Amino acid sequence: MGTRVSRNLTAILFLVLLVIIGSHSAPSCGTTLHVDFGDPIEGIDADIIESFEQGRESFRQVVEIGGGLGPGFNARSCAECHSSPALGGSSTVTAIRFSAGHKELPGGSSLQRFSINPEACQEIVPIEATVVAGRLTTPIFGAGLIASISDADIEEEEERQTQSKDAINGRAAHVIDVATGLRRVGRFGWKAQQATLSFGAEAFLNEMGVTNPLFPKDTAPNGDNHALQACDQFDDLESTDDDGEGIGKVNIFMRLLAPPSRGTVTAQVHRGEDAFRAIGCAVCHRPEYRTGRSEFAALRYKNVRLFSDLLLHDVGTGDGIRQADARAFELRTPPLWGLRARQLFMHDGATFTLAGAIDRHAGEAARVTQRFRSLSSADTADLLAFLKSL
Ligand code: HEC
Ligand code: HEC
Repeated sequence: MGTRVSRNLTAILFLVLLVIIGSHSAPSCGTTLHVDFGDPIEGIDADIIESFEQGRESFRQVVEIGGGLGPGFNARSCAECHSSPALGGSSTVTAIRFSAGHKELPGGSSLQRFSINPEACQEIVPIEATVVAGRLTTPIFGAGLIASISDADIEEEEERQTQSKDAINGRAAHVIDVATGLRRVGRFGWKAQQATLSFGAEAFLNEMGVTNPLFPKDTAPNGDNHALQACDQFDDLESTDDDGEGIGKVNIFMRLLAPPSRGTVTAQVHRGEDAFRAIGCAVCHRPEYRTGRSEFAALRYKNVRLFSDLLLHDVGTGDGIRQADARAFELRTPPLWGLRARQLFMHDGATFTLAGAIDRHAGEAARVTQRFRSLSSADTADLLAFLKSL
């Protein structure tokens, strides 16, 4: 009896030891994900960390019908889509947009797939729609740094590209920031449709149907106000928790989410980065910007290694939907940091491999893509190893 207890005890201790060793050794091996996806940026005060944690909770929190969900919605929490490899990340979920050529249809281009009352107010893709497109969830890591890059720096990059020998000609998106009413340079979303993290407040409305001070009115399904009235059980302003820039603490959470750290940098990765610059990928996927002013010291005057010029380009993959300042076939160069944690690529999430993503580039990127195709197999392997280190 006694020996059985002690043998069980030994087995339990052994298991505990395994778990401890496992949790400590995981982050250091090879391309395994670093623990810091989802962590706050370094150097912020304890009281702000507390707001960050509260914001993370709201980001995860499931909104019920009684809490303002719907009438139309795509998910019940931000975390349902922004979950991988940590809260605030991406996922394989795509949102649906539709339009009829250059015409926006009633109720906007964003489809709300579900409804709190499907008989009375379910939005559908109308028969007039000529384009229906998926939009992959973009990760939010490092978004506060991206928000702190000055408009002037992005416009300077636009100016610089007019000299490109490869006929690359990015365009800064000019959009109106809902929080301030000011004309700013867009940088968030596949179409650079927003300049600030007010993006989050719009997501509360578009993805969950939760109205807030920046977006105070529920969207009528397919523009049908009768259907909206039949279903909307709440006075508007379902969330009043607002700090003027987005939805309160969720905004703090997004602004202070750390950027993805670099994976393991080997000699091959260095060679791959050289090839990436040499063939011209780095023109659009600009390795670095520097932030300007910010309310948070941790975001101020920092180098941002995002690998994007934040400009709009036509690389031949566009979905034909005009949005904010972006023309039908233009897309923002997506930042490449954090690529190693992603399963799907490109705005529609239709590509499974990095080589496949590069291969789809045409239009403004045609010459660069041609050079990529002419690389030796060793150089190609180096370049892909570099992308997987991001
Ligand atoms: C149904 C899935 C879904 C839900 C739920 C969702 N998002 Fe998103 N999110 C997306 C997609 C898709 C994009 C890219 C949209 C685009 O550019 O068209 C995105 C983009 C973003 C971006 C821009 C990031 C960048 O740099 O481009 C922010 C910020 C964001 N979401 C915040 C939120 C917040 C806050 C919530 C909760 C209120 C939320 N999202 C809920 C799918 C979702
Ligand atoms: C003319 C500008 C331009 C050039 C040059 C360019 N890209 Fe891109 N890149 C883009 C745009 C715009 C997209 C988004 C396209 C889409 O989603 O349909 C993109 C998407 C990507 C993606 C997918 C990212 C994601 O989040 O899914 C990868 C990977 C990528 N590019 C790597 C490269 C590499 C490697 C090169 C060089 C061989 C390169 N790009 C050259 C503009 C460019």
